[in-house]
Amino acid sequence: MGAMDQLEHVEKASTDELRRMQLDRLRWSLKHAFDNVPHYRQAFDAAGAHPDDLKDLSDLAKFPFTTKAELRDNYPFGMFAVPMKDIVRVHASSGTTGKATVVGYTKQDIEMWACVMARSLRAAGAKSSDIVHIAYGYGLFTGGLGAHYGAEALGATVIPCGGGMTERQVKLIRDFKPDVIMCTPSYLLVIADEFERQGLDPAKSSPRIGIFGAEPWSESMQAQLERRFGIVALDLYGLSEIIGPGVAAECIETHDGLTIWEDHFYPEIIDPLTGAVLPDGASGELVFTSLTKVGMPIIRYRTRDLTRLLPGTARSMRRMARVTGRSDDMLIIRGVNVFPSQIEEIVVQQAMLSPHYVLEVRRDGRMDELDVLVERRADIPGPLAAETRGSVEREVERLIKGLIGVSTNVHVVEPDTLQRSQGKAVRVVDKRPKH
Ligand code: DLL
Repeated sequence: MGAMDQLEHVEKASTDELRRMQLDRLRWSLKHAFDNVPHYRQAFDAAGAHPDDLKDLSDLAKFPFTTKAELRDNYPFGMFAVPMKDIVRVHASSGTTGKATVVGYTKQDIEMWACVMARSLRAAGAKSSDIVHIAYGYGLFTGGLGAHYGAEALGATVIPCGGGMTERQVKLIRDFKPDVIMCTPSYLLVIADEFERQGLDPAKSSPRIGIFGAEPWSESMQAQLERRFGIVALDLYGLSEIIGPGVAAECIETHDGLTIWEDHFYPEIIDPLTGAVLPDGASGELVFTSLTKVGMPIIRYRTRDLTRLLPGTARSMRRMARVTGRSDDMLIIRGVNVFPSQIEEIVVQQAMLSPHYVLEVRRDGRMDELDVLVERRADIPGPLAAETRGSVEREVERLIKGLIGVSTNVHVVEPDTLQRSQGKAVRVVDKRPKH
């Protein structure tokens, strides 16, 4: 075993030691933001909060939140805390609407990121002797380069494939025989389909571990990916504003949610409506404060991701539960809150159906209607007889109504009719008129 295969000291630290370290680092981070980023100076002053007020970790609640809107207002480089000569990399998250948000890293930040990503890979069971196939997109998106630097820091052999060109992905997986594969869960499905299109069984391919994230995915999807590819599938979480992938990662020993690398990213869960901090275990919106980031410190960033904090298991650091979804992706259909991942959970378990689905919301008169379009499985003879199709559709509608409480119209469609993802899947198409 190489040196990089061993846990870092901090991964085994006691909770007391960790909390002391967080308090020291949090003081530094608040002061660094206050002293060097005009936005934070103004926002702290307006809230009557000063970095010297932080006596205890809970005092963080006195400081104002940061939202995506503020990052946009300071586009492109206004949130940076160091001169541009010290920034060695920028990434940007496209965002579906409006301006991108830009993030900047110093050399030290890139090293910290590589370190937390190496830790995430190690937590997933990857070793320095492994070959790691990376099919996250490279470029302004943080997935590709984040995974790349982490796998290299671990000492593994990296195949920097990037997203797309799925036939070539299959060829490279067959020829190079990677031990680990990293991409979005929805893109792994596309790769699995391509294996099968070529008459090959993905379960016979080399990878033993898959590390997936960048989009919500259900437990049934995780189980399906494990079965189809014959791998252990681990969850990886992160966002550009905080660092990129590697904020939290699932440990293979326990496979029970994501350990947050709390020595670098301080988590809180808040009530999304009131902003009040909620106790561990309660569901709400995840908020992060960077503890060590130099180029772009971020204070109480509202991720919009909904989850809860759980006690540590495989590590002493706290875990977060699988992300149910983003508050922005929550659909409200006739008063019922629905997340795409809840519908996915049901669809993926149907024997006749593939995991390729999309939700369409439309307005019928004054009412919102939710159409669930899902492809039938390609490996069963088709097209389905109208009667069979109808009975599958009614059954899924019944399950959705029973488990989520919302009436939907399920439409089983033919294979390859819905759009495929190469990165983050688009799960919701909103066809309601825009005002
Ligand atoms: O998606 C970083 C990343 C790359 C994470 C590769 C994991 C793997 P952004 O493009 O800024 O960064 O998007 C961040 O994606 O706020 C979540 O809504 C969602 N997300 C990321 N990981 C997960 C996950 C990258 N494991 C946004 N489960 C976040 C659910 C996730 N949602």
